[in-house]
Amino acid sequence: MTSMKEIMKQRKSVRTYDGRELAQQDRQALEEYVSALTNPFGVPVHFSLLDMERYNLSSPVIVGEHTYLAAKVAREGQYEIAFGYAFEMACLFALTRGMGTVMLASTLSRDTFEKALEVGENEVMPVASPVGYPAEKRSIREKMMRKGIKADERLPFEKLFFEGTFEKGLAPDAAAPAVIEALEMVRIAPSAANKQPWRAVVDGKKIHFYEAKTMKDSQLGDIQMVDIGIGLAHFELSLKEDGVSGAYCIADPGIEESDNVKYVVTYEME
Ligand SMILES: Cc1cc2nc3c(=O)[nH]c(=O)nc-3n(C[C@H](O)[C@H](O)[C@H](O)COP(=O)(O)O)c2cc1C
Repeated sequence: MTSMKEIMKQRKSVRTYDGRELAQQDRQALEEYVSALTNPFGVPVHFSLLDMERYNLSSPVIVGEHTYLAAKVAREGQYEIAFGYAFEMACLFALTRGMGTVMLASTLSRDTFEKALEVGENEVMPVASPVGYPAEKRSIREKMMRKGIKADERLPFEKLFFEGTFEKGLAPDAAAPAVIEALEMVRIAPSAANKQPWRAVVDGKKIHFYEAKTMKDSQLGDIQMVDIGIGLAHFELSLKEDGVSGAYCIADPGIEESDNVKYVVTYEME
């Protein structure tokens, strides 16, 4: 069976595709996967695979693609987290079949995407992603972009994750190995502009997640909450693979937070 931890470790955004159309089996497998996809945050996410020529879709940063995966969600409850969680699950599934993706919030022809997806009044399409087979070499533009946003770098573990309070960085032996590994999967997740807004405080069997907000809300909502949803998908997949179960719940422990850091959700292990 495919190890999702390995898939998460291998994952990199793909902006340069080899020009092939999706194979029928891959397209169908992805369609089936997203049509059955649920998330723990109670807001359904609706996916469509869109043919770029048919809908006049484009992105100035993508080359060699033919198909996009797009999704919309109603603006209710924890919709940004639900969206990020579900969209990342779909991207990781694509990767298990050799397809690359990259979430695009800003560098895409948003009007044509929203029209193709029939985004309604109270709905939003936070991101869409090309889906295709990665080219052997990245385009020069992609290489420059990656360098510009330091896409290969991540903040150190102990600056993201804490023990008991935000005072003390989490040491690698201060939690069960499965929890440390799952948090490492959060650390390597993708995020808008690679801002890495995930923070977590480990307290026994509870892991409290926070958002360190550095970007302003837009008409898309809080895009960094989409990042949080992505991280929560990585966290849960990793724990599951290590045989640990539990659930997400809202249970703010009241730990003192700094100005831009906000409590989001708690994962409680069984
Ligand atoms: C919510 C979200 C929005 C993003 N929007 C864009 C975008 O508009 N254009 C783009 O080229 N990359 C976009 N990205 C990709 C990030 O820049 C990329 O994930 C990050 O730099 C880390 O690189 P990696 O995915 O290769 O690890 C987005 C990623 C996320 C999660």
